[in-house]
Amino acid sequence: MSNRLQTVISGLRLDNPLILASGILDENGYTMKRILKEGAAAVVTKSIGSAERSGYKPPVVVEIGGGNMINAIGLANPGIENFGNEVKIAREAGKPVIGSIFGADAEEFSNLAKKMASYGVSGIELNLSCPHVKGVGQEIGSDPDLVESIVGEVKRSVNIPVFAKLSPNVSDIMELAKAADRADALVLINTVRAMAIDVYARRPVLSNVYGGLSGPAIKPVGLRYVYEVKKETGKEIIGVGGIQSAEDTLEYIMAGASCVEIGTALHTGGRSVFRAISRDLENLMASEKLDSISDTIGMAIQR
Ligand SMILES: Cc1cc2nc3c(=O)[nH]c(=O)nc-3n(C[C@H](O)[C@H](O)[C@H](O)COP(=O)(O)O)c2cc1C
Repeated sequence: MSNRLQTVISGLRLDNPLILASGILDENGYTMKRILKEGAAAVVTKSIGSAERSGYKPPVVVEIGGGNMINAIGLANPGIENFGNEVKIAREAGKPVIGSIFGADAEEFSNLAKKMASYGVSGIELNLSCPHVKGVGQEIGSDPDLVESIVGEVKRSVNIPVFAKLSPNVSDIMELAKAADRADALVLINTVRAMAIDVYARRPVLSNVYGGLSGPAIKPVGLRYVYEVKKETGKEIIGVGGIQSAEDTLEYIMAGASCVEIGTALHTGGRSVFRAISRDLENLMASEKLDSISDTIGMAIQR
């Protein structure tokens, strides 16, 4: 790949702007390593908590057509003490591994961040936005005071970049973006709260009733948040939500993202999406005479 695709987020150098999003094939060191070898510039791990958690009973995922899905996995994860080896294996690919964590308060987040940092991750992503688990995720991510104290405490605890992943399921994103101002960058967006009903069984499909919508349906929502927050705050942003192609990636970059994360496209299209999107992005940028990602970030913002 040429230099055209290189980008930087909070000092982390990436070969291309495409990162594996949290929650898709990233609870296991070998799958993360493989995805890095197949073209992702970095990976974000599954969100890891203090203790092992089995999550909700199946069904936890429903495909709703058009490459979209709704999930309520319930933050199933092996717990931080059991995750060191997975990070070690993923790091063998020689690219940044970003550790995603979730907790209930500033103290728990900061303990998790310290432990995750000790495993050698290049950055920490704070999951302040899971839409379907009580007491963590979006419940705390909707409270500006808690967001401010969590971000502040984690920033004091580690000396690697800290990214705050915010929820779209709030009435005022700017309030939260400002509360998370001490983060090195903001990650926008997590899934959109949604549900599906099985008319034959006459009941909700997911065992948890509600879940998070992901895939192309949420791209316009993600773009709007990236654009709005970039325009108002100028902060560095990692865009995520419904990205499937080079055009989608460029839309997010022109809206203000420095790089993007990809989740559901991998579930529907397989691991080759990273290689395919990088190649198409290189061609698209060349034909549009866009010489670098850094010159393209926020290009569409109207002042
Ligand atoms: C099956 C599944 C599991 C997910 N688990 C997590 C998670 O553990 N932590 C998190 O921050 N986001 C999680 N997400 C949200 C994704 O990281 C991403 O924000 C969202 O899916 C939108 O991007 P996409 O449309 O490219 O999938 C999950 C998404 C899916 C589909």
